Amino acid sequence: MITLTINNKEISVPEGTTVLNAALQNGIEIPHLCYHPKLKIRGTCRICLVEIEGMRKLETACSMVVKDDMVVSTNNEKVEKARSGVLEFLLINHPLNCPVCDQAGDCDLQRYARKYGRDHSRYIEGKRDFPEHDIGGGLVRNMNLCVACTRCIRFARDILGVEEYGSFYRGNDQQIGIYGGGELKNAMQGCMVDVCPVGALTSKDFRFKKRVWFLDQKPSICLKCAKGCNTFVEVDDNKIYRIVPRENLDINDVWMCDIGRRAYLDMDDKEPVTSSMMKSGDKLFDVSLERAIEELAVEIKERQENGSFALIIGTGASIEEMASALLIASDNIGPEQISLTTRIEDITEEKEAGNFLIDEDFSPNTAGAKKLGISDNSKNIESAIESKKITGALFVGCEIFDSALPDTLIKKLKKLKFAAAITDRITPEITKYMDIVVPAPHWSQKSGTYINSQGNAQRIEAAVTITNGVSSSKVFADLAAELNKTSVDYVKFEKEIEKRVAGN
Ligand code: SF4
Ligand code: SF4
Ligand code: FES
Repeated sequence: MITLTINNKEISVPEGTTVLNAALQNGIEIPHLCYHPKLKIRGTCRICLVEIEGMRKLETACSMVVKDDMVVSTNNEKVEKARSGVLEFLLINHPLNCPVCDQAGDCDLQRYARKYGRDHSRYIEGKRDFPEHDIGGGLVRNMNLCVACTRCIRFARDILGVEEYGSFYRGNDQQIGIYGGGELKNAMQGCMVDVCPVGALTSKDFRFKKRVWFLDQKPSICLKCAKGCNTFVEVDDNKIYRIVPRENLDINDVWMCDIGRRAYLDMDDKEPVTSSMMKSGDKLFDVSLERAIEELAVEIKERQENGSFALIIGTGASIEEMASALLIASDNIGPEQISLTTRIEDITEEKEAGNFLIDEDFSPNTAGAKKLGISDNSKNIESAIESKKITGALFVGCEIFDSALPDTLIKKLKKLKFAAAITDRITPEITKYMDIVVPAPHWSQKSGTYINSQGNAQRIEAAVTITNGVSSSKVFADLAAELNKTSVDYVKFEKEIEKRVAGN
């Protein structure tokens, strides 16, 4: 450990720590713009200047490593004057548009200008003026706001390993842009917005939709692939506006990919299932949940006597939902009639575009399903449908007839006499092939456990309340009751699941 003094306070930090980190770890603020804890140190913005006893000039705290008996001042007159001077230079070309800037409330420059800056500008010359520029992909660039910190460049080059973004021209003409023009293509553009300390890079999905101070951050997990990145779902008035990464050093560090960031947009892309539905003719009509469950139970029981039933479980379901489905199925169908759908995708292009997190398994709970003993039984189900043993199917937690199922099985499932789905979104396939549809919560509306490809069991909690008013536990409890089973105590049930997960 190294012992030094910062602002007359003696502190000890591990050898190799920078003055900036030593201060931050001990609750002493030193403003910084180009420094980012996950990026290589560059020392370009100069706003972190501090005075170190025995050194002729002020030094940048982000690049200076601590030494024993070092004496540092971060707040004397000389430092404050220099800091305010650096800010004045940074603001020379920066428009005074905080009230209408999308980054306001989330902007380091705004915070530092208010705390350390002058209260008026001495710059009377005209500011440079670049038009806002759609740089393709998901971002808009505004060079009038850029402080040339190069965080975005270092992220693309050093973290993604993608050479597509750099700095052009010098001095007053300096601009950040794409090599050879064209469009931004990397697969983690949202992280460039995250690392940008000002509003020079903004996300097309989020910009000007909501002031950040209205947003509540709800901890969540991305369910778009088996990586299980930790996230915050940002919500106002029961509506999701943005998904940002939440630090988890074992899984996603502080990053996430753009597929996960856009996961909430499917809420608007597809129509939600707002009530239970039953088919009459070739159309689905709204019915009460009780009626739909009653009919579903009749169909299941009938097949118990005269044939059998397939249960197709998607890994979009939480462990609790899968275990509930297994409980309903246990007396009614055999394990060979229960099949898991996992969606494996070719991720070569994503990897080439720098997506170092993405897992080829686009199903978020394959490991969870395996712990419950659910596996791919599509071959058995196919032959049982062929021999007319299986004449009906219930889909839980999966996209109906998507690429997760083999084509040959899809063809057979489409010809079944009866099919039902417990699902949150309507698709043309559902309207065409399902006889009963029961609403399920969207991923952002439910709580449950998912196990990622590394084996981490992670809880997801509802970020927004259920708009269709039905929880999965109610659906399964009601169905269990209809099938003459005792209804399920979900508190005990979840404890049992936790035990099973821990025991596996
Ligand atoms: S666009 Fe943002 S992150 Fe990139 S150099 Fe400019 S201020 Fe820094
Ligand atoms: S890598 Fe997977 S889990 Fe992580 S954000 Fe992307 S899609 Fe979501
Ligand atoms: S944070 Fe130290 S020079 Fe920018």
